[in-house]
Amino acid sequence: MRGKRKARDDGGAAGRRPLISGNWKMNHNHFEAIQTIQKLAYALNRDDYRHVEVSVHPPFTDLRSVQTVLQADDVPIALGAQDCHFEDKGAFTGEVSAAMLAKLDVSYVIVGHSERRALSGETDEVVNAKAQAVLRHNMVPIVCVGETIEQRRAGQARDVVATQLSGSLDGFDAAVVAGLVVAYEPVWAIGTGETATPADAQDMCAHIRSRVTELWGSAAAAGLRIQYGGSVKPSNAPDLMEQPDIDGALVGGASLDATDFARIVNHRLYAA
Ligand code: PGA
Repeated sequence: MRGKRKARDDGGAAGRRPLISGNWKMNHNHFEAIQTIQKLAYALNRDDYRHVEVSVHPPFTDLRSVQTVLQADDVPIALGAQDCHFEDKGAFTGEVSAAMLAKLDVSYVIVGHSERRALSGETDEVVNAKAQAVLRHNMVPIVCVGETIEQRRAGQARDVVATQLSGSLDGFDAAVVAGLVVAYEPVWAIGTGETATPADAQDMCAHIRSRVTELWGSAAAAGLRIQYGGSVKPSNAPDLMEQPDIDGALVGGASLDATDFARIVNHRLYAA
């Protein structure tokens, strides 16, 4: 049913504009990327962007192609990347620097995604250095945090997330934190089809915000946008997105299909 529930308007009571981000991971070659972004641009109309900001995070090899489509058609979708190196240049075979991404008009860079923490052994220290590199080049990091199922079962979820948060943002000024995006992605919900309940997701996002208040003050906490990620789909997006401390979504699988992703962007229309 459309539009029965009172939808959050223009970022809700706190005035934060939700950010819905599509993390394509290692999917879509540059031909497929062009098709997907064109389809997405077509599926969304200008009005849709009034309530939410939208970013897409294609693989590095697609960035230039997607940038060209967005610019040529003046599409108000922000270009994002999935990772970067913390150094600007040098002998780092296979790496891509934040400086290079900035030259492609990238606005958002995901850092510390759980797949990178798990598969590439990224520590909070590395994530912190990457976030600094992103900021140095006037882009916004999307800093990912989230507990594993073992940690949740052991009752450690809140501590794990608090530690990742303080470590990943250690040394940051309050004014910088106010402009950041943190993505809470419980590892057990990523790509599994299992989603945190809206209440559980809200609970953890509120916990993140209160830790930010303790560490950086209430202005930083009020400005910080917190996304939820982990099996977000058109069907569960409305309930998740209406939680007061959830300011958007980091969407993996469902962002590969332009129609599904457009429905998530337009979640307000589909609220039950
Ligand atoms: P998923 O991935 O939506 O496929 O669960 C989310 C993410 O890893 O960012």
